[in-house]
Amino acid sequence: MTRRRRRALPAASLLAAAALAALATAALVTAGPAAAQSPGDAGRGDPAKGREIARQHCTRCHVVGDLNRYGGIGSTPSFQILARRDDWLERFSVFYALRPHPVFVRVPDVPPPTELPSHVATIEMTLQQIEDVIAFVRQMRAELK
Ligand code: HEC
Repeated sequence: MTRRRRRALPAASLLAAAALAALATAALVTAGPAAAQSPGDAGRGDPAKGREIARQHCTRCHVVGDLNRYGGIGSTPSFQILARRDDWLERFSVFYALRPHPVFVRVPDVPPPTELPSHVATIEMTLQQIEDVIAFVRQMRAELK
């Protein structure tokens, strides 16, 4: 088992997700003192808050560093594996638009894929909280190297 074993993300799905994310982030980018920065840039998020958000929401399925080393769901990639990838930032920036997340992650201004109720407990997250998670994963990546 190597860290490269996971399939490459189909370019089309990453593009579609990025387009959706761009819609949602446009408001964030054009507003406030951080206007010169892009989403996902270092300094936009708070790693300590991101760690707490990940503990609360993501450990349900993912192993997240030392938060739940023996937890998570077997088929779900750990944050450590994801953090090591060259494209980690893209993946964490648009994860809510990548399966399986759209069904249960709710981000303001991002329309859900269906009006049907989610089969698992939903996660409500703002774009700022996603920045916090990105900051946490950036820190994790630096510590893994
Ligand atoms: C209900 C289970 C579940 C929860 C909760 C969950 N995830 Fe995931 N996540 C998955 C699964 C399953 C995959 C693998 C999808 C695949 O391989 O196609 C995944 C993949 C990912 C990926 C990689 C995306 C890709 O396609 O490469 C990222 C990034 C990610 N999750 C971030 C998060 C974050 C951040 C949270 C918490 C806010 C979270 N996930 C919560 C199940 C979950």
